[in-house]
This record gives sequence, C-alpha cells and structure tokens, in this order.
Amino acid sequence: MNEQVQSVASDPLFNPLAPDFIRNPYPHYDRLRTIDPIHVTPFGQFVASRHAEVSLVMRDKRFGKDFVERTTRRYGPDIMKEPVFRSMGHWMLQADPPDHTRLRGLVVKAFTARRVEDMRPRIQEIVDQTIDAVIDRGQMDLIEDFAFRLPVTIICEMLGIPEDHREVFYKSSRDGGRLLDPVPMTPEEIAKGNAATTMAQMYFQQLFELRRRNPGDDLITQLVQAEEDGNKLTNEELTANIILLFGAGHETTVNLIGNGLLALHRNPDQLALLKARPDLMVGAIEEFLRYDSSVQMTGRVALEEIDDLGGKTIPKGETVLCLLGSANHDPAVYPDHPERLDITRPNVRPLSFGGGIHFCLGAQLARIEAEVAIATLLRRLPDLRIDDVENPEWRPTFVLRGLKCLPASW
Ligand code: HEM
Repeated sequence: MNEQVQSVASDPLFNPLAPDFIRNPYPHYDRLRTIDPIHVTPFGQFVASRHAEVSLVMRDKRFGKDFVERTTRRYGPDIMKEPVFRSMGHWMLQADPPDHTRLRGLVVKAFTARRVEDMRPRIQEIVDQTIDAVIDRGQMDLIEDFAFRLPVTIICEMLGIPEDHREVFYKSSRDGGRLLDPVPMTPEEIAKGNAATTMAQMYFQQLFELRRRNPGDDLITQLVQAEEDGNKLTNEELTANIILLFGAGHETTVNLIGNGLLALHRNPDQLALLKARPDLMVGAIEEFLRYDSSVQMTGRVALEEIDDLGGKTIPKGETVLCLLGSANHDPAVYPDHPERLDITRPNVRPLSFGGGIHFCLGAQLARIEAEVAIATLLRRLPDLRIDDVENPEWRPTFVLRGLKCLPASW
C-alpha cells in the first residue's frame, strides 16, 4: 500500500460526495482496489474499482440499465411521475435493447469519425474566435471563457439551435450533474431537476415546431422527421434524447479540456514537452482522459444472478457501479506509475467513454474538440499561467468531474 493510501485509511471506503473525495478521488480508489475491489455501499450497491471487473460489467449482456426498476427501488413507486425521472427514462443512455438500439440508430450517423473530422475547420474557427475575444485582456477563466464555449457552440450547431437563442445556454447554471450521482437526490434537488426539465421541454417543443415548418440540415430536423414517419420514436423520446444530447454534448467535454489543462500545468515537464512536440497531442488527449476523466463512473444492473464478480455474488436486480476513474489508474493495466501524467505513455486505452453498447456516441467529437482547443491555446498563449494550480475549486458532483473555474493570466 502506498503513502497516499495510508493517509486516508480511517475514512469510509466510498463516500463520493465528501469534499476530500471530490478534491482527489484517486487515493480513495487505491484503497478500494486494494482492500475491497467489489465493495458494497450503505445503499446496497456494489462498487467495482478494478479495470477487469469495470470493463467486464460494461460489456457483459447479463448486465443492463433496467432504469425504471432500479429508480423505483431506490426512490419508491411514485418517482417515475416526476418529470425529470420520466424524461431520463427515455434517454438512450438509460435504455436497454431493443429501445436502445432503435434510439441510438436514429442519431449515430451524425457522430461517425468521418462526419466529426469534417467539423475540424469549424472547431478551429470557434477556438480562434474565443481566444480573439479575450487575448487583449491578459486574463480569463479557462472554464467559463474558454473550455465551455466550444462544446456548447458545437452541440447547438449540430442540433440546429438558432444563434440568437444560445446566450442563455452559455450562461446556464450546469446544475444537472447531480442527476447521475450514486447518492440519492434530495426533494429540493428533484424539484430543481423538474423545473429545468420542464423549461427545456417547453423550449424544445417550440423548436420542433419551427423545424417542422422550416427544416434545416441538423439533428433536430432529422429526428422530427423520424417522429412524423410513424413508429420510429415518440414525441417524449424525441424531447428526452435531445435534452440528453444537449447535456452530454457539453457537460463532459468542458471538463476534458479543463482537467487536461490543469494536469498539464501541475506537471510543467509535460507541458514543456507538449509545447515542444505538438505532434504528441493525440496521445496526450488519451492520457488526459486516463489521468483525470471527466466522467468518473457509470453503472449497470444485474439482469440475472451473477455468481462470481471478483469473488462476490451479485443478486439479480442489484446495481454495480463502475468506477471508470479507478479502472484508469489500475496498476494491473498501467504498471508504470499510473498516478503520474505521462503524455508519452504507451497503450493508453482509457475506459472514460465507457464500453459495450452504450460506448460514448460523442467520443470522437470530444477528442477532436479537446485536441484543437488545447493545441491552439498552447500555441497562441504560450506564456499562460494558471493562478492557483494547487487548490482549484471543483464542482460538487462526483460522476461528472470538473472545475468550477480556473483563472489564468498571460
Ligand atoms: C470527454 C467527453 C466525454 C466523456 C468522458 C463521455 C463519457 C461517456 C460515457 C462514460 C458514456 C457511457 C455511459 C454508460 O456506459 O453508461 C457516454 C455515453 C454517451 N455519450 Fe458521452 N462522453 C463525452 C462526450 C460526449 C459528447 C461530446 C456527446 C455528444 C455530443 C456525448 C454523447 C453521449 C451519448 C448520447 C451517450 C449515450 C450512448 C448510449 O447510451 O448508447 N458524449 N459518454
């Protein structure tokens, strides 16, 4: 056991919303992997922390999402009447086949590697405009002024959200992250989630109406046409999956860029190396994903009894939480100091985008956005310094790991 592991030895093994866990979950993961790799939480969930089990659970067909059953078990039978949970119940992210296959099939073409590569010049243009807007100021918040603008603009353009509607999205509170955390939401949080969902539903219904009358070359037009086609998807599914794409499209990539920039500035040798060797960028992005993933966890429900997962039996209907961030630091797969940032590390295949049938639809888009954003920042603002690399302020969510702000100057 290493020093970091010993220093937290008296804390509960898995307390993901504790400030110390949010600040740095990795020593906690080391303990879990070493002491209790399939740990059972006070809520009765099983927590998988090693690469082998995390990877298996995401890919094995004996596991699924079973969203309605799982949510009802946790919150009681009335929970699916709450608008926020009703909407989530239609997300492809929470669906099992055949619904999952049908919903994903309707949008997958917009996210192929080729389609995304074609967006590279536009991504470059947005990043350049973002830097142009702040370059004379000599300082900015790397999250709000830089990392956030690119993914929001891109997903708005893909969905066909008109330019004059977007300002509200740039300023939105980004409270939605709690929906995914493994600790149940409070009634106040559910009420907030309901309000945000209802507002989003109202907005998108109007936009659907606009696109029915005025079709464009965008995903909303495509899905509205699929809805009109007959039995491809219902209006509720359409709305819910647009909300999912909108959220998934920016809550995650902003943090890949933010966490990556923080990691680089905490490791000046790696920063200097990347500045000197921009050709290392593609591998560096994989290492940022591995080193401090913007999505730390996903989960699956056992659809039948699993008699041996890391030595434990998982009864039918029980949830296994998959700690992606922990799997990414498992010395069994990354034997050479997994706790170090090394942009030249060989064979980096992070689980940050999940695995199996739910493998992230936007993985390639996120990679290219981060690549262009970070490369351009290093090139155009080579003397940029982060004000406080030691104690940045983290957002209080666990599944979506990212910074509240990251002030920097040049
Ligand atoms: C760094 C950025 C991103 C990370 C780390 C990330 C991570 C993930 C993960 C871990 C999953 C799988 C969850 C599971 O297995 O239960 C997932 C699914 C998904 N992601 Fe991402 N994501 C990112 C960016 C994006 C972007 C840019 C988009 C869209 C524009 C997107 C859209 C989706 C969708 C729609 C799903 C559900 C796919 C399905 O259920 O079949 N993601 N993402």
